[in-house]
Amino acid sequence: MNLAVIGTGYVGLVAGTCFAESGNDVICVDIDKTKISALVKGRVPFYEPGLEELVRKNLEEQRLFFTTDLEEAVHKSTIIFIAVGTPQGEDGKANTEQVLKTAKSISRVMNGARTIVTKSTVPVGTAGEIRRVMTATTPHPVAVISNPEFLKEGAAVEDFMKPDRVVLGGDDSQAIEMLKELYEPFVRTGNPILVMDTASAEMSKYASNAMLATKISFINEVSGLCEKVGADVGQVRRVIGLDRRIGPHFIFPGVGYGGSCFPKDIRAAIAMGDEEITMPLLRAVEQVNDHQKLILVEKVRGHFGSDLTGRTFAVWGLSFKPRTDDMREAPSVVVIEDLLIGGARVQAYDPEAMAEAKKIFGDRIRYANRNYEALQGADALLIITDWNEFRRPNFQRIKEFLKSPVVIDGRNLYDPAEMRRMGFTYYSIGRKNG
Ligand SMILES: NC(=O)c1ccc[n+]([C@@H]2O[C@H](COP(=O)([O-])OP(=O)(O)OC[C@H]3O[C@@H](n4cnc5c(N)ncnc54)[C@H](O)[C@@H]3O)[C@@H](O)[C@H]2O)c1
Repeated sequence: MNLAVIGTGYVGLVAGTCFAESGNDVICVDIDKTKISALVKGRVPFYEPGLEELVRKNLEEQRLFFTTDLEEAVHKSTIIFIAVGTPQGEDGKANTEQVLKTAKSISRVMNGARTIVTKSTVPVGTAGEIRRVMTATTPHPVAVISNPEFLKEGAAVEDFMKPDRVVLGGDDSQAIEMLKELYEPFVRTGNPILVMDTASAEMSKYASNAMLATKISFINEVSGLCEKVGADVGQVRRVIGLDRRIGPHFIFPGVGYGGSCFPKDIRAAIAMGDEEITMPLLRAVEQVNDHQKLILVEKVRGHFGSDLTGRTFAVWGLSFKPRTDDMREAPSVVVIEDLLIGGARVQAYDPEAMAEAKKIFGDRIRYANRNYEALQGADALLIITDWNEFRRPNFQRIKEFLKSPVVIDGRNLYDPAEMRRMGFTYYSIGRKNG
């Protein structure tokens, strides 16, 4: 099939590349010239495991093309995916300006019937708005299908290649059949393609992210209670996770959720309810999360006192989760800003997100080239992101480099008893202090 994907960010680039990998001819379009000129040379402008190799392979095979020329892409494609951003707008609502602008630009250059597929996460009703905007501009037939994307950054290629399910919302049977055919190679193991109306498809993405965020805030709230009453959230988590109605996934306590999706999608879901459906549960999910992002600094102040002037803290992990360099709404930003306000100095290390961190903090913090380098002369180590390389460090070296052996772990990576035995003062989430 001949496809175009508009927007070559995390979602558009992964989708376009994976569609090319299954044999389609794909033209990826972006307005960002720097991004496109890097991609033309096979360079992916962000970190996503396995993606760059796949982009290069499909560029070489001449199935994948990058351009800023929307008209060319529209003329050469029958199916056009919209994967541009839907950032948080006023009152928490999702801002669909980029999506509608893209739809209008497509309709201006259309020279025949096209199927438009929304991959961006959009509020219920957006498919209808796209159709209205486009039919007002072009005489050619337009089918609009909602196809929300569920991939996770850090495992995006695998998620796209083997989705748990594919959701198609729309009532144009010809377009639905074409998309089913397109997705067929990705669901060979029997995972379903679910066809529904556009409102349910659009809603399902918000409901999915809302449930995942709820699980995180739930276990974080439980971890606070565990600390207060002297229970161990690790044990509690295992018990509840073995209940098949609950399941073991996504109930790890930590420093709160971040990233480009959960925070904005939860706010957008709340905003969709307007004044009629006030969404008390999701408001609480957000409130718990806002508090959780401050938990590490509360522990820092509990240990060192409220005045942090002259103190230096090492931070391991800056991206909002491992295997990505994405720092949008990352808990690390809240933690570091709070430490800086308190008068402390910060020395940070992340395996992939250093360039992103420099854009946010500039010269307000120090950047280490290696994880141990960040520890030199620091009063304590704070662990914010659970990158694999932080799981089994050389504790002797940590002790040698730190001014005092204090570790404040936001991801419960280590055993409290073992840490105590090695001479550390160890704080973690929802467990007794070491
Ligand atoms: N990142 C994720 O993990 C994820 C997962 C599922 C769904 N989503 C949703 O997918 C959408 C895209 O997210 P993302 O993280 O890929 O965003 P992103 O910011 O990484 O990428 C968006 C891209 O669109 C480009 N763009 C904007 N306007 C354009 C236009 N008029 N024409 C061409 N290109 C244009 C931008 O330059 C940018 O490269 C959002 O709605 C998001 O909520 C994201």
